[in-house]
Amino acid sequence: MSETPYRYAYSPALVPAPGEPEAGMWRWRRLLPLDGSDVYPLAVGGTPLVALPRLRAALGLPGLVLKDETRGPTGSNKDRATALCCADAVRRGAPAIACASSGNLAVSLAAGAAAVGLPAYCFVSARTVSPAKVDLMRAYGATVVRVDGPYEAAYRLSEQVCARLGWYSRNTGSNPLAVQAKKTVAFEVWEQLGRRLPDVAYLPVGDGTTLAAFVVGCEELVRCGVADRLPRVIGVQAEGAAPLAQAFAAGRLNWTPVESTTFADGIGVGDPFFGRPALEAVRRTAGEFVTVSDDAIREAVALLARTAGLLAAPAGAAALAGAIAHQGRRAGEERVLVLVTGTGLKDQRWLPREQGAVLDVAPDLTAVLAALSEQPGGQGD
Ligand SMILES: Cc1ncc(COP(=O)(O)O)c(C=O)c1O
Repeated sequence: MSETPYRYAYSPALVPAPGEPEAGMWRWRRLLPLDGSDVYPLAVGGTPLVALPRLRAALGLPGLVLKDETRGPTGSNKDRATALCCADAVRRGAPAIACASSGNLAVSLAAGAAAVGLPAYCFVSARTVSPAKVDLMRAYGATVVRVDGPYEAAYRLSEQVCARLGWYSRNTGSNPLAVQAKKTVAFEVWEQLGRRLPDVAYLPVGDGTTLAAFVVGCEELVRCGVADRLPRVIGVQAEGAAPLAQAFAAGRLNWTPVESTTFADGIGVGDPFFGRPALEAVRRTAGEFVTVSDDAIREAVALLARTAGLLAAPAGAAALAGAIAHQGRRAGEERVLVLVTGTGLKDQRWLPREQGAVLDVAPDLTAVLAALSEQPGGQGD
């Protein structure tokens, strides 16, 4: 079992009864270190668990469910930790709040800080940050500190600045509240599956917090006595940033940092700040790691969009790519969970433009019908 700095008097009474009305993340306040519902105004958590018939059929996976974390206030699972950290920062009277981010976390923090009235500082790597996400951070009023170095350099600088200026750090590697908030996704899945955990769960891994927190959540349900066993948890890394997958394959709990080459920025982390807890968490569930190519991630984004109407970012679709790559290595596990961590709407560089079609036509019915008839399966005269 995991060790976290937070202790609860675990019992079924900490878990909300089915009739309890509160929706969203604060529904789980008895398993959170603080209840921020009176301070934090944005609706967070309570994202849908979706069974997508066309995707299930395409993959031959009748027990597949997706937890759609694209439905948070800024479209990623970062919104959970932002809510808890902003509430904590307000309670502590922090003068400002800061983070380092590959993009989504900073957008989330910028929005959350705006909602509670805190100045936000977003440290990002100038090499990898998406210009569209910088625009979003600014739209929410944040100051963007664009560091001419990799994400890891932006992270270290943000920690140093917080220590020097007394700002509140929302960094997942140093603020234990991030795991506390992110574990609530496991609670929701358990409740949405009819108070049962899945058999196997696929999660994307960058810094490792999302995965480690999911496992902590599952373990707390077991400790509360409402779940009897953990799902097997499969960490999915991009081939171009797979230090933890490599360490796991070698049976080690330490890794050799790599320079990320993947286009999937959210998981493009060569030296993860939460790597060890993630490696240990996968071990505790008897799970494993899989790696996926950028092409496989692109295909997962496209498949999800065209068969399920769900537009994910590359990092957000990586777990689905992992579940596809892992086909054949599942031993009779029926309830398969895939965590979709972020929307594709924020950064349109990676839209799957090879599918669908655009017909440029004159404003004339005959021309439109002629163009339509040339389409595959088109209906023309
Ligand atoms: C969409 C998305 N998915 C997955 C991740 C990786 O999560 P973690 O760093 O907690 O492993 C990120 C991190 O930025 C992300 O933005």
